[in-house]
Amino acid sequence: MNISITRTTTPKAKPADQSKLGFGLYYTDHMFLMNYDEGLGWHDPRIVPYGPISLDPAAMCLHYGQEVFEGLKAYRQENGDIKLFRPDRNYARLNLSNDRLCIPPIDEAFAIEATKELVKVDADWIPTAEGTSLYIRPYIFAVDAHVGVHPGKHLIFAIILSPVGAYYPEGLNPVKIYVESNYVRAVKGGMGFTKTGGNYASSLKAQAEAEKLGYTQVLWLDGVERRYIEEVGTMNVFFKIGGKVITPALQGSILGGVTRMSCIDILNSWGVPLEERAITIQEVAAAADAGTLEEVFGSGTAAVISPVGELRWGDKVIRINNGQIGALSQKLYDALTGIQWGKIPDTFGWTFDIN
Ligand code: COI
Repeated sequence: MNISITRTTTPKAKPADQSKLGFGLYYTDHMFLMNYDEGLGWHDPRIVPYGPISLDPAAMCLHYGQEVFEGLKAYRQENGDIKLFRPDRNYARLNLSNDRLCIPPIDEAFAIEATKELVKVDADWIPTAEGTSLYIRPYIFAVDAHVGVHPGKHLIFAIILSPVGAYYPEGLNPVKIYVESNYVRAVKGGMGFTKTGGNYASSLKAQAEAEKLGYTQVLWLDGVERRYIEEVGTMNVFFKIGGKVITPALQGSILGGVTRMSCIDILNSWGVPLEERAITIQEVAAAADAGTLEEVFGSGTAAVISPVGELRWGDKVIRINNGQIGALSQKLYDALTGIQWGKIPDTFGWTFDIN
């Protein structure tokens, strides 16, 4: 399929100070759009000037949340080349989300090509300062004008781009996380393994309450027993206890993070003992009491590797590594971002060239 390109005649000014990009505050000059109509399939792929999308007020995505999204990044290398990090895994996961939300599958190879084309068109928006990248947000939503509940027959697949710095204001400094025992994010059989807006909508109240208490994000526990650790607001989570790294297994209600799987592969390649299994908050608290909780960190495309310096569970405050980033978290951050920014060889074959 041929992607038509209409370039803007009024390019925007780019953010002047790359050290103040924050996350998701700026958008580039162009976006990718493609339509799905029952009977026609996915059609009319196009790159057009970034701008508002007109929707019928009855559009189904506005009422019933039939929407999925992804997050990946493009990185400018020191020699000027541009690389995408594991776009194949993001588009495979998008189709997993699509399936759960009754959205017709996209052609993953074509989606990678569309992403590359869009990034090429807006390549001069890719920031170059240390710790920055171009965040890529593909998403699909149902636009049928129908307030009956059924799967949409008309959808839009869009991709927008945003030059970003660190997701958390803390940067690589450890974040404080509130262990959430009241609200739940997802249950097995629900949509927790997908990237859909509803999972994030259900997190907002807990997030707002945690922020009032001075915490950056919440750590979700399972929805049934409120014991088993699931994930943190925008990232998967890892614990280093007594020399061993433990991360919750993917059992249906947790997002299968691309950064999570990359961390696991890197740790395995270093021979670090690692277990993907059920882990309770009680086990973590007991390890903290016994002095064997060495490090906690989150992983995500937006969050990259984010060390956790404090966990609060009810009245219990667990300080981790004296609130400092741990040696393994730092080493993993350096290895992962080294591959992404082309500073160390990509022996895993994870990066895709844009040329
Ligand atoms: C990502 O890490 O790409 C995410 O999707 C997190 C996002 C909700 C900010």
